[in-house]
Amino acid sequence: MELRPFSGTYLTNPAAIWRDLLDGPERVHYAEDLGLWLITQHADVRNALGDSDTFRNALTLAPIYDVCPEALSIVMEIDAPPTTAAADAPTHTRTRRALRATFANTAVRVNEQYGPIVRRRVDELVERLIARRGTVVDLVPEFAAELPLLVVVDILGVPAEDVALIKKWSDGQIALIWGQPSPDEQVRLAQGLLDFWRYCQRLVAFRLQEGHPGDDFVSKALRFRDGDDEVLTTDEVASLAFNLLVAGHETTSGLLAHSLDNALSERGRWERLVDNPSGVPALVEETLRFGPAIDGWLRVTSAPVTLGETTIPAGARCLLLIGAANRDSAVFAHADAFDPHRRDGKDHLSFGYGPHFCIGAALARLEAQIALTRLVTEVPGLRLAPEHLNSFKPNVAFRAHRALPVIVETFAQYDDTTAAAA
Ligand code: HEM
Repeated sequence: MELRPFSGTYLTNPAAIWRDLLDGPERVHYAEDLGLWLITQHADVRNALGDSDTFRNALTLAPIYDVCPEALSIVMEIDAPPTTAAADAPTHTRTRRALRATFANTAVRVNEQYGPIVRRRVDELVERLIARRGTVVDLVPEFAAELPLLVVVDILGVPAEDVALIKKWSDGQIALIWGQPSPDEQVRLAQGLLDFWRYCQRLVAFRLQEGHPGDDFVSKALRFRDGDDEVLTTDEVASLAFNLLVAGHETTSGLLAHSLDNALSERGRWERLVDNPSGVPALVEETLRFGPAIDGWLRVTSAPVTLGETTIPAGARCLLLIGAANRDSAVFAHADAFDPHRRDGKDHLSFGYGPHFCIGAALARLEAQIALTRLVTEVPGLRLAPEHLNSFKPNVAFRAHRALPVIVETFAQYDDTTAAAA
């Protein structure tokens, strides 16, 4: 079969294809167009995520297609050592330990350490939005993409003047690895990625020179390292920063855009949140299940794996379709319905599972919850531009809205029919 992830059909409504794959007779599928094995059932995706001996991470961040020779020669110059998401044990165990010690990752610690940053940045963006009342604003560039980027650069201690560069480079990385760029674009994006890596090395060198006394992530990682390469090398610190700068915002911006879309596309749903903002966390959690920001993730088998009647050979690249697993009827009642009140919602796999479970899950949830709560409170009249139709950037892993135009009104204008239904 072919998945055709860049076709209009898949980009508009991947869930229809996931449903066919889940309900079809075969447990695992080989996508000839991608050269990837597709794993869709919840139990199989969870096992693969959790079994890091058999399903390895080493090639997770390698482009899913053959890049042109000129771009490849530039990519080969990127000598970033693999850490966390791109590493297997024992490097993964060691670098993850360092990350857990230096990057807050429980709800309580995230709220204590990063809550003030998130609240300040949300306030700035909401104030800017309110200043544009009565106009149409695209919430993707003006809110969803900007908030997580500003938060992660604050956490990492990246200078404000470099934010636009970081955005350009990390968008380029997502397109280079999981998109469909032309050969010319591949060369441009590969050059950007190399510049990005060199930038992270310079950031670490600068902090080293300063004596790294600060509260930013890079300084904390250098203090944790304490001059010992057995703990973490300076290039590994740069590599962690390189990964966090991308993982910390491209994902959460997807979560924000999907949450806003789910909240605003049904007026009654938005109005219920305006009346009762305590419903925001449940909406965010159901958004994670229903339309994950990352809906496919790569692994490579280290040994043959038999699933049902099919044996995946050793050395095979597998696409774990997290989006499909989150719609598996064996786990989720009325799986294709968006239902913030469901009881089984927490079983989604949107932050992964097992040893590589997302280190930023608590931060992503906090950002989305604070942002939506502030918007329903301060901009209750917000509504989607009537002519808007969703479309998503061409990508195999990251499902990102191209645009989310809204009309900014600060006063709620209740529609009698939806208010009655609510
Ligand atoms: C909605 C937002 C997010 C989603 C959907 C998401 C998704 C994921 C997924 C699926 C994985 C597992 C990868 C694997 O199993 O190989 C992962 C790992 C990771 N995520 Fe996130 N993520 C989000 C936000 C963040 C944020 C905000 C950060 C940091 C600022 C972050 C940093 C990481 C890191 C460092 C890993 C690698 C962990 C490891 O390999 O041990 N993520 N994320």
